[in-house]
Amino acid sequence: MTDLTSMASQKLASRESDSVTLIEKATGRHIVLPVLEGTAGAKTIDVRNLYRELGYFTFDPGFMSTASCESKITFIDGGKGLLKYRGYPIEQLALHSTYPEVCYLLLYGDLPTAEQLDSFNGSIKNHALLNEAMRVFYRGFRHDAHAMAIMVAAVGALASFYPEALNVHDPRDREISAHRLIAKMPTLAAWSYTYSVGRPFVYPRNDLDYTANFLHMMYGRPDKDFIANETFVRAMDLILILHADHEQNASTSTVRLTGSSLASPFAALSAGIGTLWGPAHGGANESVIRMLEDILASGRDLRHYINRAKDKNDRFRLMGFGHRVYKNYDPRAKIIREMCHKILAELGADNPNQPLLDVAMELERIVLEDDYFVQRKLYPNVDYYSGIIFRAMGIPANMFTVIFALARTVGWLAHWMEMMSEPQSRISRPRQLYTGVEHREYVSIDKR
Ligand code: ACO
Repeated sequence: MTDLTSMASQKLASRESDSVTLIEKATGRHIVLPVLEGTAGAKTIDVRNLYRELGYFTFDPGFMSTASCESKITFIDGGKGLLKYRGYPIEQLALHSTYPEVCYLLLYGDLPTAEQLDSFNGSIKNHALLNEAMRVFYRGFRHDAHAMAIMVAAVGALASFYPEALNVHDPRDREISAHRLIAKMPTLAAWSYTYSVGRPFVYPRNDLDYTANFLHMMYGRPDKDFIANETFVRAMDLILILHADHEQNASTSTVRLTGSSLASPFAALSAGIGTLWGPAHGGANESVIRMLEDILASGRDLRHYINRAKDKNDRFRLMGFGHRVYKNYDPRAKIIREMCHKILAELGADNPNQPLLDVAMELERIVLEDDYFVQRKLYPNVDYYSGIIFRAMGIPANMFTVIFALARTVGWLAHWMEMMSEPQSRISRPRQLYTGVEHREYVSIDKR
């Protein structure tokens, strides 16, 4: 097993390249703030001493201009449409790699040798079973519980089985927790699905690769073997690779924030899953299909929905379009779009999802030519196509975000491990711009 102590000794690597001076107009008081530069990306003003020296906070709701940490894992250039894991362009990983290899890369920083990958896969397979008590845990949910609600609870519940995971300052304990989570997530995800459809839980199989094993647990039955369609396995593996990490997005920031209190990684990931669930984040892939279903059921012209999306008095948005960081084509969407079209071609025009898929393709075509979307750089995002692929593969809508969570588990863990191995890490505690009542004297209830 790779020795994580080498990761633990990785120090912050940014360098001070310049400075900016902030002057208070009224008094002339000033502060010189260092400008930090990483290996790529925007220069960053280091405001850590601002409050101590001048008594100011910075104000940045939504973190539009704030780097919350230093990281070596993933780089995005939203303007150019670039995404790299540990320096490797996503296009190369999508073409040549597999999800377990990408997991290794994200966790350990380098692509594995054959021997390292073998050992990593062995460890993951070894940890794929759930404690049998989890079977009873699942039975506590209503049959129609949303799979993401089950996932939030089930991943949090795992903390109770692994109290040693609280040794968050021990690199070996962190590594075991990471392997456990990566290994158990497909089992948890598949069981959330089988439970909802009343089928028996299917155990993991050690002779299958990670992605094929997940599909086996989703669709397998004790009474007959499940043979996965090769294209579907490859498509699923590709989707997992594309979703594996995305730097400091809302769910990863949640995992870091929760982990910063030295909480169990199982609790931190459960919090991350909760954040991912929202339709403005990972829940968008489910919302895409719900929107397309509504459009199809209404029988209305697509223009009606496009006009609604443009209307500032209407909260309706076209799900699966736009991105906080990418103001160019999301590179993941480019890759997955190709896979999406391949799957649709393979399924042929007579598959039952074809009318929905036709609406999706027509919407994509119109939006890419519409001035409103072109001017705002609102391209289809990765969720648009993953939603369509999942639907084409017959995966139910409430499992879409669960699969995203399964894929992103390694990204969350890589960030958590990076943060925990940083000697200077401390609890995340943002401040605020208070605009409430400044002071009031208590008035007894009979005088109000
Ligand atoms: N449909 C219609 N208009 C949109 C959309 C959309 N999907 N997305 C953005 N816009 C418009 C906004 O109304 C705004 O217009 P304005 O400048 O005239 O006011 C402009 O584009 C900029 O939008 P913001 O909301 O400022 O962009 P922000 O970066 O805050 O939001 C987000 C990004 C949340 C992804 C947004 O584009 C959205 O809601 N998209 C739909 C949901 C979705 O697909 N989410 C998945 C994100 S990818 C992921 O999590 C993996």
